[in-house]
Amino acid sequence: MPDDSSSTAQIRPSGAALGADVSGIDLAAPSDADIAAIRRAWLDHLVLRFRDCRIDDRQHVALARRFGELDFNPGTRLTGKVYVDGIPEIVRISNIVQDGRAIGELGAGEADWHTDMCFIDEPPAASLLRSLEVPSQGGQTSWLDMYGAYETLPEELNRAVVGRSIKHDSVYASAGKQRPGTTAPARGDVRDIPGAVHPIVRTHPETGRRCLYLGKRFNAYVVGLPLAESEALLDRLWAHLAALPARHIWTQNWRVGDLLMWDNRCTMHRREAFDDSERRLLHRVVVKGSRPV
Ligand code: SIN
Repeated sequence: MPDDSSSTAQIRPSGAALGADVSGIDLAAPSDADIAAIRRAWLDHLVLRFRDCRIDDRQHVALARRFGELDFNPGTRLTGKVYVDGIPEIVRISNIVQDGRAIGELGAGEADWHTDMCFIDEPPAASLLRSLEVPSQGGQTSWLDMYGAYETLPEELNRAVVGRSIKHDSVYASAGKQRPGTTAPARGDVRDIPGAVHPIVRTHPETGRRCLYLGKRFNAYVVGLPLAESEALLDRLWAHLAALPARHIWTQNWRVGDLLMWDNRCTMHRREAFDDSERRLLHRVVVKGSRPV
């Protein structure tokens, strides 16, 4: 691990199983020691929050690049759609409609638990999400500790997932909408939907810890099982998540200027709905990851 001893970073853990506030760093010009300190805190606490960030889009991208090569969001990958002129690495998360067109993704509705881009072969390692406009209420984002989800699996459920993998739907987004540039299967059967196959239990490539990797519930399929058995196993896994003690969840109430950086390999996140007559705008950049094993 690179040396972080000269960093000015202050790390304040949330007290839950995940989440920490980081302060004392100029995110527009972090030193190598600062980056090392952020990386260590990110691996330890899974989700980091930086308040009152005064960085622009280019600094946001430059910061993310210090943690690895960047990836493009699915819309940009499949259709070449760019949200911010000249900066294709940024995806806009927003409900704002301008001249009759949505300027970003996800609208104002609830987004259920998911990991970013689980349906590609090498899903991102990190996501960095920065708030530019926030509604007066609602729109909170929560993260779930998937190490804890694995470590608390009942024995029989642990046995049921050994050696099993999930196929993660690459055609339909969580809300059921088909992604532009994809082809829907002829039959309406999840077994026919293309998508990456990843192990249900993965080993984190940096910490060596095991965690559950479920991607999202919608259109998931446990490879090799009859459909009804796949659904039953997924339902049991998701019921286990729903019953996790509160300390495995950490919730962010957004303020303008927040930057949230999370480990996309060992967390899932969800977003609360908010009033669509208010504006919410966030910019996200993702750092490439590796194939889950
Ligand atoms: C996301 O799911 O990546 C966006 C979360 C949010 O809108 O807060």
